[in-house]
Amino acid sequence: LEWDLKSLLLFLSVFMITADYIKNRRPLSFPPGPPGLPILGNIFTVDVGRPHESFSKLAAEYGDLYSLRFGQRWTVVLNGHKALKEALVTKGDSVVDRPHLPLQDEIAKGLGVIFSNGANWTEQRRFALSTLRYFGFGKKSLEPVILNEFAHCAEELKRFKGEPLDPHLIINNTVSNIICHLVFGHRFDYGDEKFQKLMLLFDRALQIEASIWAQLYNSFTLIMRCLPGPHKTLQQIWREVQDFIGEELKEHKKSWDPSDARDYIDFYLTEIQKTKGQEGSMFDEENLIMCVLDLFVAGSETTSTTLRWAFLYMAKYPEIQEKVQAEIHKVIGKSRPPCMEDRAELPYTDAVIHEVQRFGNIVPLSLPHATNKDVQLGGFTIPKGVLIIPNLTSVLFDEKEWETPHAFNPGHFLNEDGKFVKRGAFIPFSAGKRLCLGENLARMELFLFFASFIYFLLIFTLLFPVITLIFLCVSNEPPLVYPHVCTQEEIRWRSASKRKATASR
Ligand code: HEM
Repeated sequence: LEWDLKSLLLFLSVFMITADYIKNRRPLSFPPGPPGLPILGNIFTVDVGRPHESFSKLAAEYGDLYSLRFGQRWTVVLNGHKALKEALVTKGDSVVDRPHLPLQDEIAKGLGVIFSNGANWTEQRRFALSTLRYFGFGKKSLEPVILNEFAHCAEELKRFKGEPLDPHLIINNTVSNIICHLVFGHRFDYGDEKFQKLMLLFDRALQIEASIWAQLYNSFTLIMRCLPGPHKTLQQIWREVQDFIGEELKEHKKSWDPSDARDYIDFYLTEIQKTKGQEGSMFDEENLIMCVLDLFVAGSETTSTTLRWAFLYMAKYPEIQEKVQAEIHKVIGKSRPPCMEDRAELPYTDAVIHEVQRFGNIVPLSLPHATNKDVQLGGFTIPKGVLIIPNLTSVLFDEKEWETPHAFNPGHFLNEDGKFVKRGAFIPFSAGKRLCLGENLARMELFLFFASFIYFLLIFTLLFPVITLIFLCVSNEPPLVYPHVCTQEEIRWRSASKRKATASR
């Protein structure tokens, strides 16, 4: 019997490996790539903590387009400006979809903007863009809202009177409050219990979504469904966030006046009313809640992480900080803080913000795309339904595109006369039809916050002590990060800097 069981197991193993080999062979039309393991594919080819670095190394070996298999799913990684432009812009219509990822599908259910496709995505994106235009830059500009929020943030920071502090939470609150204003029409006090809970829920959910658990769930869904782990709590966390948004929606409906839209929710309610009864209408309350959630997810951690890197770089390069401040004081004087109209007159400041985004590289692999029909990319035929990863890192650090790609150098965005120059390879917001929907808002927030911070010299006086401690704890160069990696590393820095601060006292 023992021998029979052994033979059976051996037979089953050989059978599964052969079946996997036949079923999952790299299709002939595919770009090349490293060999993978039976069943598992290439999951061990990539460093899960810093996948963008693994992807860039693989490009040196296999070229700008190569293919990898994660479980049963074939993936094509795009590297370099030419390959990304061809896929996202020139052939953008065929690479515009998001892939079906079990974890994201179970939460978004095809609604909202970030993980929806087809007619729903087109409608929700168009609506969100026009609303953002109206509130962000049109009649009801968000500029005074951002400046007001900066004042609250500055007040909060001043409370520390130059003592070491961790600015992470305060900046997160500040940036999230701008999204609150946009979607709910009001801000929250930083100490508000409900608001604090919302912030914690987002933090927790984003950490799980960016963890190995989420990746394993998406690659080996059936097995992972049976195993315990943080992925099990994700649905519950997002449900709590949706309930929070639902409460705000309920309040809005009580005082909603279609002739005087106060915010995104009001506009959306009007759209629901306008399209009611129309065949195939995509506007309903469930979709509204998902869209609001998407604006928070995409618009908070990204901007706040970029700002944190800006502060870190300014502390690391005080000579650059001084030049920014000198420019601001020379152009604007010292009698009023900066406003959006000043941006064109502040080329050095603008160049520094661009360099922070390039060097900070906070969304190194963009969001995943998928082909929605067979398409030729880089001379290879990529069939419908293949997951596409645009490696933005490979463009932001491309040695062919940038004079000193691995150094923090605002000169990348200045010409010989010190005028600001746009660079085609500057794509932290990605490119093409899925280009970041909040790019203009993010750029406005980054400029107003950064210029105001430098104008008031808050970085040195309030943040410098803690940043100095952070630098004592880490190696020379701040790492390139995902927001979640940043969060985890910051937690480590924070506890290390706390220990040092206590010891030095
Ligand atoms: C998508 C970057 C701020 C809303 C994206 C993508 C990137 C990105 C790389 C993926 C694009 C693609 O799939 O090709 C950033 C960065 C930001 C930022 C670096 C700040 C520094 C914002 C803000 C908002 C926002 C402030 C909204 C208020 C969105 C949405 C999408 C998106 C809704 C999904 C678009 C779609 O699927 O059609 N962003 N983003 N982002 N972003 Fe941003």
